[in-house]
Amino acid sequence: MKICVMPGDGIGPEIVAQGLKVLEVVGEKFGHKFEVEEALIGGVAIDEKGVPLPDETVKACKSADAVLLGAVGGPKWDNIDPAIRPERGLLGIRKELALFANLRPAALFPQLKDACFLRPDIVEKGIDVMVVRELTGGIYFGEPKGEGEENGERYGYNTMIYRESEIRRIAKIAFEAARKRNKRLCSVDKANVLDVSRVWREIVIEVSKDYPDVELNHMYVDNAAMQLVRDPSQFDVIVTGNLFGDILSDEAAVITGSIGMLPSASVGASNPGLFEPIHGSAPDIAGEDKANPLATILSIAMMLRYSFDLDKEASYIESAVEKTLSAGLRTGDIMDEGGNLVGCKAMGEAVIKNL
Ligand code: IPM
Ligand code: MG
Repeated sequence: MKICVMPGDGIGPEIVAQGLKVLEVVGEKFGHKFEVEEALIGGVAIDEKGVPLPDETVKACKSADAVLLGAVGGPKWDNIDPAIRPERGLLGIRKELALFANLRPAALFPQLKDACFLRPDIVEKGIDVMVVRELTGGIYFGEPKGEGEENGERYGYNTMIYRESEIRRIAKIAFEAARKRNKRLCSVDKANVLDVSRVWREIVIEVSKDYPDVELNHMYVDNAAMQLVRDPSQFDVIVTGNLFGDILSDEAAVITGSIGMLPSASVGASNPGLFEPIHGSAPDIAGEDKANPLATILSIAMMLRYSFDLDKEASYIESAVEKTLSAGLRTGDIMDEGGNLVGCKAMGEAVIKNL
């Protein structure tokens, strides 16, 4: 099994290093050989190659069986030409690998319920939401887009566009995911205002005919944002477009306590999947051994499950993470009263000990 690893910027290299150690131990225990090849993306790629997504990186990803990513971006590249911002590397590789579906599970670890921002009576009902975000279309990629100047006034614009085929394929992924979970799907749009959303809703309803066992409802995005904090237990799977999904997945993640815990998988029809923590590069703590490696470790579990069908190995990692949390180990982002504060390395080592 060939894995292309892109540590990226900020805390990326630290968290990925811990993830890879876990992978190695799992490989040894179960007799699997994981071949790891590193590639550049984001700011480090700009520094070394002048572009955020060098051709070699795209090639390395395409010839791998799965891709692991740390994080991209940082203040160092904030004032760079927007065409080569580090984020372009991430958007570019999603597009190159045609990873149209982004699965972002946001579940509350019972061990971390005190780190949760919501009221105890709300937390009591549990949080276990899977956000299925469309990842290669919508306003992120829609044309025309650009900046200009007219009558001495500057303007900027983007296009939010979804084609039937794009909506159909992401809806299918979401219905399938719901089928494997609690069989409830909420499609989030802004159909009271946006034409693109009305088409989105129409197509989702059409696809639902093939999934009579899944209960479908629709919600406007502003209401969904509110409902997520008011009563997250009402959600099972959420399906939505690229921009709404970007926003709602951060929200879903943080209400569980910390975005430092949550993994994600980006998948397409055939290319290798890409697995990454949903948090960013956290430049403020980079290199200080303070980052939480658990989201990356859990992303590796997702990789084993989705790309390699190694369910048992994935559960093995997930229970090691739970054991580590039960033992009271906490990085700064999930620290609570009575927790034992540890750094990135110590957290990774503890997970390995619990494997
Ligand atoms: C994410 C990030 C990216 C996005 C950025 C870094 C381009 O916020 O993965 O959610 O907007 O998709
Ligand atoms: Mg985001």
